[in-house]
Amino acid sequence: MELRSGNIALRPLRQTDAGRLAELANNEKISCNLRDGFPHPYTLEDAENFLQKFTNQDPVTFFGIDYNGEYVGNISLFPGQDVYCKSAEIGYFIGEPYWNKGIVTTAVNLITEYGFNHMHIIRIHTGVFEYNTASMRVLEKCGFVNEGVFRKSVFKQGKLWDEVRYAKLKPASGK
Ligand SMILES: CC(C)(COP(=O)(O)OP(=O)(O)OC[C@H]1O[C@@H](n2cnc3c(N)ncnc32)[C@H](O)[C@@H]1OP(=O)(O)O)[C@@H](O)C(=O)NCCC(=O)NCCS
Repeated sequence: MELRSGNIALRPLRQTDAGRLAELANNEKISCNLRDGFPHPYTLEDAENFLQKFTNQDPVTFFGIDYNGEYVGNISLFPGQDVYCKSAEIGYFIGEPYWNKGIVTTAVNLITEYGFNHMHIIRIHTGVFEYNTASMRVLEKCGFVNEGVFRKSVFKQGKLWDEVRYAKLKPASGK
């Protein structure tokens, strides 16, 4: 299965992505924006363990992002449970050499469309640490709405930070 727009494609992760994943992910400018489950330093073993869990998924929730045929990062869409079963949480990163080329904006648009049309969800949401202006910009470009701030909800690198919450509803499903 592949979702594509021009030279950007989302496809299932492969065990052979491990080496490149470890190279790209081992960057504190990336890990500082993500939950602690994304470690720093990020070793080849971390990459292999991660891929062990998230290859051969059915349905796919974690996708690799390819740019010009090269693996450059990940994007995920996790469905909620219980009363949140019509929502999903989005997450993403790409390697620093590929920043500011519009890649994640395209990837978010692709996975959002896939989620709304194939996953029976009507809401996609995420939280962005207060200092991550690039990610907020991506979400705003993709039509996500700032729904407010979870004050001091994030403890990262020994400090408390606000988290800015963003969400997008499936068109025509709003109240
Ligand atoms: C945040 C991240 C996903 C953005 O990916 P990307 O492919 O570079 O994003 P795009 O190129 O599609 O868009 C980036 C936008 O942010 C803007 N931007 C970049 N750095 C910025 C900054 N410091 N302040 C304000 N805007 C910034 C860019 O100018 C661009 O907006 P524009 O198109 O209006 O010019 C990427 O930097 C990344 O992987 N970061 C580390 C992991 C991460 O933060 N994940 C998200 C956690 S919520």
